[in-house]
Amino acid sequence: MRLKIPITIKFEPSNNCIVDLFEKLLTRMGPLGQHAKAAEGYYMFPKLEGEISSKMIFRGKERLVWSLNNYLGLANHPEVREADAAATADFGMAYPMGARMMSGNSNYHEQLEKELASFIQKPKVLLVNYGYQGMVSAIDALVDRHDVIVYDAESHACIVDGVRLHAGKRFMFKHNDVESCEKQLQRAQRLLDEGGNRGSILVITEGVFGMTGAQGRIKEIVDLKSKYNFRLLVDDAHGFGAMGKTGAGACEAQGCMDGVDIYFSTFAKSMASIGAFFGTTPEIADFLKYNMRSQIFAKSLPMPIVVGALKRLELLRTKPELREKLWTIVNALQGGLKERGFDLGKTTSPVTPVMMHGSLGEATALVVDLRENYNIFCSVVVYPVVPKGVILLRLIPTAAHTLEDVEVTLNAFSEVAAKLKEGKYATNEVVAMS
Ligand SMILES: Cc1ncc(COP(=O)(O)O)c(C=O)c1O
Repeated sequence: MRLKIPITIKFEPSNNCIVDLFEKLLTRMGPLGQHAKAAEGYYMFPKLEGEISSKMIFRGKERLVWSLNNYLGLANHPEVREADAAATADFGMAYPMGARMMSGNSNYHEQLEKELASFIQKPKVLLVNYGYQGMVSAIDALVDRHDVIVYDAESHACIVDGVRLHAGKRFMFKHNDVESCEKQLQRAQRLLDEGGNRGSILVITEGVFGMTGAQGRIKEIVDLKSKYNFRLLVDDAHGFGAMGKTGAGACEAQGCMDGVDIYFSTFAKSMASIGAFFGTTPEIADFLKYNMRSQIFAKSLPMPIVVGALKRLELLRTKPELREKLWTIVNALQGGLKERGFDLGKTTSPVTPVMMHGSLGEATALVVDLRENYNIFCSVVVYPVVPKGVILLRLIPTAAHTLEDVEVTLNAFSEVAAKLKEGKYATNEVVAMS
């Protein structure tokens, strides 16, 4: 019998032969992938283990965690855990099978839609699998090549990618700048007038921007409707559950839900799960239902997710004390940081960005010190997401934190900020942790 010896052919690029795809990809790992060697497992793809709470295990040691969007602390709430477990025992993870349009619909999916609609006070809600793919695909369904999209410059990737699919014009306005938004609306209007008005305008922004915590200026954008003809889509991933009198989000907080034509949120934050939804008119909800390719051609949410979402929504609605606790922690953390002279940018939401200044090397040395010596785990954001030289530490307070957690963190932040100022983290290298 002859042994089969695998043959590897060494690729020699030359002018007259195409480049092997894999070889090409591996020469440019991308903006994040290029740091994989130094960052994997520590700055990127870290593993937080144990029950979801303010204290979790990272690299074998307990750390105080400020990086989970578990705003209301529902992830490990006993009633949620019980509902998730019971629904999994009752239905398993498979049911219902298939896309909702074909064979994957259920009374529970429809009940969840009705309850969400009544909670956010929109006539109808359409449940979707995931926020990211839902948003991409809703934008794709809503506009055609004659239409113009006007959107915020710092929109989440799901909006940016939805806009990328758009075959017509797109005009970006300066981040959270209503004047710039109006200018882009005027441009859009002119373009449509010149083309014989075959198209329409869709404006997209966010309720709360997840990096900075600033609220989108939704009310002011809604006011522009008195001058321009457009429809408004708002991604309120970080506002839903955390903002507003009843927790219905940033549009409720700004008193402008009626002017928002399509309200979107995900279950990935306050609801501590997966799945997402759009709230709008019955007609547009039906339009989306029959036209969103990500839903028509993908499996519907499994029953434990849907039943679990019903329980989470019930708690979100009936336990305002969870939101009150969240805001007690937010106010103590943000108030304490401001008192100590930290720059929190423009946040008006639980998202707490702490801005410092230093090189990429210094950012990593500071984070290592925070994690290894102070046992505090938070996310760090550097250039190109923020301007060169800015170190953004992002803290997400939740109802699962305590005032003691806040005190410990304030003291640690004062100490690391002083060390940064004294040059104790000075290095030009990314500090690699093996
Ligand atoms: C603003 C915003 N929109 C959409 C999403 C995507 O939601 P999902 O995680 O459900 O895909 C996220 C992140 O979760 C987000 O922060």
